[in-house]
Amino acid sequence: MANDSIRVLPVTGTIGADIEGVDFSQDVSDEVFTQIRAALVEHLVIFFRDQDISLDQQAALTRRFGPPANIPFIETMSENSEVIEIVKEADEKTRFVFGGAWHSDFSFQKEPPYVTFLRAKEVPAFGGDTLYANMINAYETLPDALRDKVDNMVGLHSGDRAYSPKMQGLQDLLENMQVNNTEEAQVVQRHPLVRVHPESGRRGLFVNPVYSVGIEGMSAEEGEAFIEGLNKHALHEANTCRFRWRQNSIAIWDNRFTQHYALNDYAGKRRHMYRTTAAGEAPVGIGA
Ligand code: SIN
Repeated sequence: MANDSIRVLPVTGTIGADIEGVDFSQDVSDEVFTQIRAALVEHLVIFFRDQDISLDQQAALTRRFGPPANIPFIETMSENSEVIEIVKEADEKTRFVFGGAWHSDFSFQKEPPYVTFLRAKEVPAFGGDTLYANMINAYETLPDALRDKVDNMVGLHSGDRAYSPKMQGLQDLLENMQVNNTEEAQVVQRHPLVRVHPESGRRGLFVNPVYSVGIEGMSAEEGEAFIEGLNKHALHEANTCRFRWRQNSIAIWDNRFTQHYALNDYAGKRRHMYRTTAAGEAPVGIGA
């Protein structure tokens, strides 16, 4: 019976699990929600099928992970200001899509989001999958000497490459989303390069190709090369999983310890998603 207890079916040995036995359109008890949260701690991204819920139900479920995250630059829905509508119409000409590069959401914020909750309203007949990478495993599989080296480093993050005024032209390619770039995106945020999971105590690399712009104490070139090396390691195929969407599928991921990538391989087809986020804490490093 739905919402009695859940079944957790890992999709790879590294990251991701399908969750069965949940119907989000009905009441979900605190006990079952605790099991869902535990599955998220263990698998970092969890997937649900056939969840026909309203925008308000999605926002309320996301709030069970924490208060709504602050959403900069992107216009939210008039029906519910906690929801971003991600739409690419069949006749859009550009190859640019929202989220179409490896990243973790808004890592340039002082308190980047904890959970991202994404639901598919309409999916293309083919393509449009989302990829996920495990940043805890990325840290744990670094060579020993490199792991010691990164442990107390500080990474620099900014939204400059996506949301500064010079990138408005890029965002305007999203014909069905409104993104308002501002100079605020140029602010640089310092975060520990290795952050500690508040529940499991495990350590994860906090770096991504879009918003990581440097390493404190390194020159720009040195920092860029160092970040590139870490991302190459973290985004190796064996450290990822891939989710094939169906209508009313949901993915919930721990944005603090994963990266994700929305594939743009469905030209001529429509894809329509609803995205909500729960607030996170300021990243806590090892020495804290
Ligand atoms: C995102 O980056 O949040 C979008 C992911 C997706 O559309 O699959």
